[in-house]
Amino acid sequence: MSPPARKRVLSGMQPSGLLHLGNLLGALDNWKALQEKYECFFFVADWHAISTNYADTSRIKEFTRELLIDWLAAGIDPQRAAVFIQSRNPDHAILHLLLSMIVPVPWLERNPTYKEKQEEIKDRDLSTYGFLGYPVLQAADILLYKPDYVPVGKDQLPHLELTRELARRFNSLYRPVFPEPREHLTQFPKVLGTDGRKMSKSYGNTINLSDAEPVVRQKLKTMVTDPARVKRTDPGNPDVCPVYDFHKIFSPAAVIERVNRECRTAEIGCIDCKKLVADAMVERLTPIWDERNKLTAKPDRVEEIVREGGKRAAAVSHGTLEEVKAAMNI
Ligand code: TRP
Ligand code: SF4
Repeated sequence: MSPPARKRVLSGMQPSGLLHLGNLLGALDNWKALQEKYECFFFVADWHAISTNYADTSRIKEFTRELLIDWLAAGIDPQRAAVFIQSRNPDHAILHLLLSMIVPVPWLERNPTYKEKQEEIKDRDLSTYGFLGYPVLQAADILLYKPDYVPVGKDQLPHLELTRELARRFNSLYRPVFPEPREHLTQFPKVLGTDGRKMSKSYGNTINLSDAEPVVRQKLKTMVTDPARVKRTDPGNPDVCPVYDFHKIFSPAAVIERVNRECRTAEIGCIDCKKLVADAMVERLTPIWDERNKLTAKPDRVEEIVREGGKRAAAVSHGTLEEVKAAMNI
């Protein structure tokens, strides 16, 4: 008897900027854990990035390459996970087109992220067909691989729900082809940016995986602390200080405990405290930086990885697309 097949996981990220610590500690660490247990497919959603950046596509290719380097440097293992680029597999476009034939427009119009993003991104005209259909492309990305789990953050749940609704609609209109994928919610530790707000590219408060050591140290030096601690002699409260959150993530227990104590009594100053957190962060990031440098110097290696991952992905997506066409009589 053959052993039961490993469950399958699929996820993607948009190449719309450089990866930061929030992404590393959230999505990437989760992906790394999943690749140990499941058959994984991880792809760069470069077509999705066009939906909001169509007026300036100049950096999507660069961000795609950087994203792949970040994944690999952070420990995504191409032996375990098929790593590929969406735009190199036309099956995603074909299934998107076929699903667009059956998706009712009101389902898309009432998608909460559609309205929210339009509100949020005021400087771009997002009244396009492609942007409205963003979740249909995402549904195609997912359904092509019939994954058991899709690791995503909470913000993506409406898209996953729509994916399941589309799967049900397809299955009932034609014949059962698509199993309904389940989300695998990513637990994000609280990661605040240098200004004390949520770490986010759009706030310009990130520490990026591609930042060099001096840049990371400099960003930490100017990071906000407990706002009530004005003078060196003022006692502080680590519980409201975003630097302390970093300690909790990166520092050894003894340092965390020391900061927690000596901040409250003003024994340690913020400059020294930040130096300690910088050291811990640098220690964690150094292997990633080393790997990044190696991969940056070897573009052929990255190319080979996505070519090979792309083949493994296409083998699955072709099979699904054949079933889809047969079910739809095309
Ligand atoms: N919409 C996702 C995001 O912005 C990216 C994405 C595209 C995705 N296709 C996907 C995620 C398929 C999971 C599965 O984060
Ligand atoms: Fe924050 Fe550290 Fe300063 Fe306390 S000593 S306020 S934890 S930076």
